Amino acid sequence: MSLILRRERLIAALDVPTAAEARQLVEKLGDSVSFYKIGLELSTSGGYFELLDWLVKRGNRVFCDLKLHDIPETVRRAVANLRGRGVTFLTVHADRGVMGAAVQEKGDIKLLAVTVLTSTSQADLAEQGYAGKLEDLVLARARAAAELGCDGVICSGLEVAGIKAKLGTRLLAVTPGIRPEGGDVADQKRVVNVAQAFKNGADYIVVGRPIRDANDPAAAAASIQATIAGIFPS
Ligand code: C5P
Repeated sequence: MSLILRRERLIAALDVPTAAEARQLVEKLGDSVSFYKIGLELSTSGGYFELLDWLVKRGNRVFCDLKLHDIPETVRRAVANLRGRGVTFLTVHADRGVMGAAVQEKGDIKLLAVTVLTSTSQADLAEQGYAGKLEDLVLARARAAAELGCDGVICSGLEVAGIKAKLGTRLLAVTPGIRPEGGDVADQKRVVNVAQAFKNGADYIVVGRPIRDANDPAAAAASIQATIAGIFPS
């Protein structure tokens, strides 16, 4: 039996401009979501930490998607600042120095390493000077994350199966780039739908715009929860 609560497998990204709008979206979503991601957009408007505390106090799990990437000492000190606030997940980029420093200070935060952004394609990597295959780079970074003591990785639903097959199930796989069949992909390039992500081995999915921009966000989230309930018996 899995230790992950089924309803927590859906992580809704609160990608809105202000903490006040984030609270409104959370209230609109009601019981359909219990795990929230607060990321870059909210971190550059006021009230990020008050929002975090509010979410923790109302019993929600919180994923701080700050994608830290700096010299090791700066990352180490930034992670230390986040400890003890009830954060469940925190992201850092999958650079060896960054991950090693973050692991030292993570305490009870689960550290997730961003392998290759889901908005990056094979052609984008070639343009950046990487000659190899995108999935090999994702796997190499996931392997480094496991070696250095990270708790999981962020990867697309297209790479999850390879990671789980080669590295085992110890690393959590958290998958953004989720789109309903025929949904607007926007800036995402490596997308799968909800069922494909979990069938490929994802432990959690991150969903932003398909919920935020739905006519009825709570109904969109409930429909995703229904799909999840069809995949995981408990
Ligand atoms: O709106 P959408 O569902 O595309 O949002 C995906 C969310 O997941 C965004 O908040 C984005 O920052 C985040 N994310 C991502 N790809 C990664 C890591 C995080 O899309 N590799």
